[in-house]
Amino acid sequence: MARRRKSIHGEWSSRWAFILAASGSAVGLGNIWKFPYLAGDNGGGAFVLIYLISVAVVGIPIMMAEVMLGRRGRQSPINTMRTLAAEEGLSRHWKWLGGAGVAAGFLILSYYSIIAGWTLAYVFHTGSGTFTGASAEAVSTAFNDFVADPERLLAWHTIFMVMTMVVVSRGVRSGLEQAVRYLMPVLVLLLLLLVGYAMNTGFFIEGLKFLFSPDFSKITGWGILAAMGQAFFSLSLGMGAIMVYGSYLPRRASIARSSINVAIADTSVAILAGIAIFPIIFANGLNPGQGVGLVFKTLPLAFGQMPGGVFFGTLFFVLLLFAAWTSGISLVEPAVAWLVENRGMTRVKASVLVGAATWLLGLGTLFSFNIWSDYTLFGKMTFFDALDFLTANIMLPAGGLLIAVFAGWLMSRKASMQELAIGNDAGYRAWQFLVRYITPLAVIAVLLHVTGVMKWITA
Ligand code: TRP
Repeated sequence: MARRRKSIHGEWSSRWAFILAASGSAVGLGNIWKFPYLAGDNGGGAFVLIYLISVAVVGIPIMMAEVMLGRRGRQSPINTMRTLAAEEGLSRHWKWLGGAGVAAGFLILSYYSIIAGWTLAYVFHTGSGTFTGASAEAVSTAFNDFVADPERLLAWHTIFMVMTMVVVSRGVRSGLEQAVRYLMPVLVLLLLLLVGYAMNTGFFIEGLKFLFSPDFSKITGWGILAAMGQAFFSLSLGMGAIMVYGSYLPRRASIARSSINVAIADTSVAILAGIAIFPIIFANGLNPGQGVGLVFKTLPLAFGQMPGGVFFGTLFFVLLLFAAWTSGISLVEPAVAWLVENRGMTRVKASVLVGAATWLLGLGTLFSFNIWSDYTLFGKMTFFDALDFLTANIMLPAGGLLIAVFAGWLMSRKASMQELAIGNDAGYRAWQFLVRYITPLAVIAVLLHVTGVMKWITA
């Protein structure tokens, strides 16, 4: 009987523990590193608007669907999908949706760990006062020199992977639940401090204009795809991370309220990061569209100029590291949970195995910033670009689409109603409408653009 199913991996201690863990997964490099540079590369306002719409009409409904499926299945995404499909009399092949999610998580972590390694390095660069009083040019050169050095990147990548796998091997509940509880609020406080600094640059309004006044002539099909992909990426959707966290959610917790809380927390952090960063960019005459290095070339500049900058800067990168850490573990949790369930491995053994494989694949991204930087796929994409494009812009939206179809169309109304337990019927119907029509149509429309985008890439 479905109502009695229990997870062999344990349960969160409360609804709040779930919200914290899911926010820990959602808030990460995606918010502070990726969101600003994507917004910068795609002209600002229009990108931000499409991003916000995607979070509301695609992100929240899919998050609810993932949590719902997870809590009903109570297993790793692969086994959850297999069990739920069997329960509804559907094909066993639905388990492959879980399998694709495991693959996506593995691919994402392999490059996520490289960027997290940069964060780790910047804790020390900032802490040692390297950026005190430095010019924009010096900060930018320091970054370029850093990523050109594979040995340094390798050391930081290795440390981050070990950190991640140690936590995963111990089970998500011990330690991390506690860490997230205290670190997330401090991260927000520091972002507010940076916003305060940005207000005094004299370019605050410029920054706000860039972020919030949409100029649709600046957005391309590619930009729309990137905005929706970023909504999936930032909310950790489409690969089973939230599903597996949902499988540890206590029975009585409200899925709708929890999901909305997580989405609000995640979006607020991204927007705050943008509000802090763009005024600094404009005040220093920097170009907002400079890609992956944006945050690493702007924030050290601000810290280098403000009083107490060494302290605040170090603290900021420590917190960003924690945000990346709590995200990293959720990227491998589905794979590790599955190995434990189906291969009878201990968590430790499963973690070592997955961690080693991820570390190895990460080398591809690592070298794409230096010795392989000329080696491009389709003539335009480095290994890192291609991985990022494949995962964030194709695998996550496609995974989300299938999750929406399963939850909205294939699962019985009785099952989804019972699991979501939304008190009022209107709320349930609103969710069902979004997940049945709006979400799939939006994702399909945007994915169709990929065909056009691919033509552009190969042209
Ligand atoms: N959401 C995280 C971030 O913004 C990254 C992340 C963690 C993720 N788990 C995920 C992305 C699952 C996609 C799928 O940094």
